[in-house]
Amino acid sequence: MRCHHSRNATNAIAVTRPWPHDRDHRACRVITLHCQPTGERATEIWLGAGAATALARRAVGRRGFALIDDAVANNQHLELSTTTFHQQLVRGGEHLKTLTTAEAILRAMVNANCDRGSVLLAIGGGSVGDLGGFCASLFARGIELWHAPTSMLSMVDSSVGGKTAVNLPEGKNLIGTVHPATLVAIDPAFVRSEPETGFRSGLAEAIKMGLGLDAELFALLERQSALVLQRDDELITDVVHRSLAAKIAVIEQDPRETGRRRLLNLGHTLGHALEAVLEGRTRHGICVARGLWFALDVARELSSMSKAELARAEQLLRRYGFERTALPSIASLMTFLAHDKKVIGNVVHFALPTGIGRSEPRAIELSQLAKILSQG
Ligand SMILES: NC(=O)c1ccc[n+]([C@@H]2O[C@H](COP(=O)([O-])OP(=O)(O)OC[C@H]3O[C@@H](n4cnc5c(N)ncnc54)[C@H](O)[C@@H]3O)[C@@H](O)[C@H]2O)c1
Repeated sequence: MRCHHSRNATNAIAVTRPWPHDRDHRACRVITLHCQPTGERATEIWLGAGAATALARRAVGRRGFALIDDAVANNQHLELSTTTFHQQLVRGGEHLKTLTTAEAILRAMVNANCDRGSVLLAIGGGSVGDLGGFCASLFARGIELWHAPTSMLSMVDSSVGGKTAVNLPEGKNLIGTVHPATLVAIDPAFVRSEPETGFRSGLAEAIKMGLGLDAELFALLERQSALVLQRDDELITDVVHRSLAAKIAVIEQDPRETGRRRLLNLGHTLGHALEAVLEGRTRHGICVARGLWFALDVARELSSMSKAELARAEQLLRRYGFERTALPSIASLMTFLAHDKKVIGNVVHFALPTGIGRSEPRAIELSQLAKILSQG
């Protein structure tokens, strides 16, 4: 797919035709979900082939600043033209999430004459979304934010919930705000050009939602694995829809992350520690998938799942190419695990799978987790 916009002809993005493009003229299915966890700002989510076109229509007549992942602009057929949205291309990836980049973006927004009435539109994966959301929350004490997520991870997870972040040399996501988007337009066509590892990293988060929260999503991922892996528009839409619905139900019940929201951390206790030990060389979702294997080991040890359910869960992970890979030394993992924000004293608030589509928060001693790790 080629990019048909001219970067030097204009510094604006507006949409004159269906966007990203009218590839297959399929009837557009736009699903609207409302996510309003704190009672302040609702997030409207449009989902399905054609969602980006609908976003483009909404953009007409609005002033704004579009932060666009360069790789997306290069791989997708974006029809960009005139006037209302200033267009800022950035190279997506973790390196983008710094205070220095945020300052550069905020200054570019001033130079583009953005004001309190402007909207910031982030078109990209989680890194562009996190940076864009951070800048939107700071500019003029907070302006409206729209997301057009382009990676599987940003579709199933990061574009909804309002967390924004940049990194410090001392650690990932240490600086951030909560600033939910008012509009999230999810067009499954975008994931077609996403590199394979990133796509699978996002799928791991969908598997997590299925295993921990939604048995129907789990069954869909089982039944339709071939089409999901082929990135079929309809299947991607279904998987994203169910994943977001599960996430939204949890954050609406627990906006302050004191109870049920911890279930979204299924697979993340070991996943985060592994990511830290590997110093970010392995993508987040790939580490989470290994963390899901570990969560199943803990479930086996504590008999919280039947043998048949454990076998089903392990089979699903394998079907998506997530093997039980060898881990780095237990000592190195335990060092990071002990400093996890889910640890209080010697106890971890662990998201424990208790069946297919079921999980519960369980306080588990660090020493018991170390023992289970040493058995695996
Ligand atoms: N805010 C939240 O709630 C939340 C939740 C989970 C993760 N995150 C954050 O999300 C980030 C990871 O996001 P990600 O997995 O989307 O990766 P990413 O945004 O870092 O992008 C990874 C690579 O994929 C490319 N890319 C993205 N979409 C593409 C497309 N459609 N076609 C071609 N290339 C494409 C990017 O250019 C980049 O090179 C991390 O920084 C993580 O901390 C945030």
